Amino acid sequence: MVSHYPGRLIVIEGLDRAGKSTQCSRLFRTLEQNGRNVEMIKFPDRGTPMGQIIDKYLTDNTMNLSDQAIHLLFSANRWEQVPHIIDKLKKGTVLIVDRYMYSGIAFSAAKGLDFNWCKSPDVGLPEPDLVIFLDVSIETASKRGGYGEERYENAEIQSRVRSQFLKLKESNWLWIDANKSLDEVEAEVNNEVQKVLNNSTQNR
Ligand code: TMP
Ligand code: MG
Repeated sequence: MVSHYPGRLIVIEGLDRAGKSTQCSRLFRTLEQNGRNVEMIKFPDRGTPMGQIIDKYLTDNTMNLSDQAIHLLFSANRWEQVPHIIDKLKKGTVLIVDRYMYSGIAFSAAKGLDFNWCKSPDVGLPEPDLVIFLDVSIETASKRGGYGEERYENAEIQSRVRSQFLKLKESNWLWIDANKSLDEVEAEVNNEVQKVLNNSTQNR
């Protein structure tokens, strides 16, 4: 699964408090130090007008939106970045993406929406070259800082979301036990990303 653009799209997924943002930052620094043209993207992107509605939905439990409407907003929040993503991929940038359509599908399906319906609005988004899933136990996640502040951050929802991620998992995903130390997880991430990047250099 190597895209036809010179750049590479690397997605990091996982439950809340799995360590995604930390690993994205560490990977960013490593690639930057290696002289790569690299950029980080995070979904939801709370900085756009649509992202601000999503942020309000996540932080304000009194805000009522139908499950379908918020699902489509999360997807639209990805689609609005597609021109930027393609532009960067064409320029040879390595994009590190913190959550992508898989979170979109897993979180909404966990609420009871139809799995295939959840998949459809993201069909056609640029395909990742690598998906890394940081698999953290609910116990470890709930002990990490800040857990419980936002909508979805409770053990019951998170375990349902994990079951949906297991349904989405494909054989080429790198599934990492994220209960391990940050350094150990980082080493596994670096190793796999290096393979994807070596592969792309050969194909260019
Ligand atoms: P964050 O903690 O990575 O900022 O994400 C906020 C929450 O939004 C998190 O609980 C996962 C959830 N989410 C969805 O429900 N659908 C989506 O499409 C995305 C990207 C995140
Ligand atoms: Mg969160």
